[in-house]
Amino acid sequence: EATAVIFDLDGVLVNTAIFHYQAWRRLAKQFNFDFTEVENEQLKGVSRVDSLNLILKWANKEVPIEEKEQLATLKNTWYLELVENMRNGDVLPGTIDLLTYLKTTDKKIALGSASKNAVRILEKTGILHYFDAIIDGNAVRHSKPDPEVFLKAAAEVGVAPATSVVLEDAQAGIEAARAANMQVIAVDKSHVLTNYNARVNDLSEILISE
Ligand code: G6P
Ligand code: MG
Repeated sequence: EATAVIFDLDGVLVNTAIFHYQAWRRLAKQFNFDFTEVENEQLKGVSRVDSLNLILKWANKEVPIEEKEQLATLKNTWYLELVENMRNGDVLPGTIDLLTYLKTTDKKIALGSASKNAVRILEKTGILHYFDAIIDGNAVRHSKPDPEVFLKAAAEVGVAPATSVVLEDAQAGIEAARAANMQVIAVDKSHVLTNYNARVNDLSEILISE
């Protein structure tokens, strides 16, 4: 029986995965490169700098380190422009019901995200107060698929990995959860993920099948 539920952010709680894709494409366009939604799957769960490095590799483009920082900042500016339009309650289906249910049943609720914008997004959408622990891109050294983010989240709420469940929409995140010895539920409407313990289309299906 799970006593902690660790949520990924982008694409699980909020519909920001699409904003990341849009902002990265806009950046790639600057050097006449484009990439598909299928290729974009490889960027999910991956840190900002690692995502940029992957895109530059796909584009066969080498840039000096200072320019890399500028490109990452530019992408984040465009990304935050899209985030700014988010409102209270702008969460994916089932999010509020699941968070409320977990609270009333005394489960620990943690965030395990690679994003450095996590707190801002949780605040904007009005769900920050549900979380007992937030481990985000500012708190980890190693990107998913490294288990660091999930192990830190479980440790902070004082729950063993074996009784923690991770909710993820990224393959890198699923591998991270498995490496942490946790159960993982894939939030995967498109059936593109593998290696999970269970799969749902969105969070509203979790309560039904609890
Ligand atoms: C999540 C998203 C990635 C994003 C990363 C860093 O893992 O799935 O697409 O690149 O966070 O997000 P940030 O908001 O710090 O750029
Ligand atoms: Mg995600």
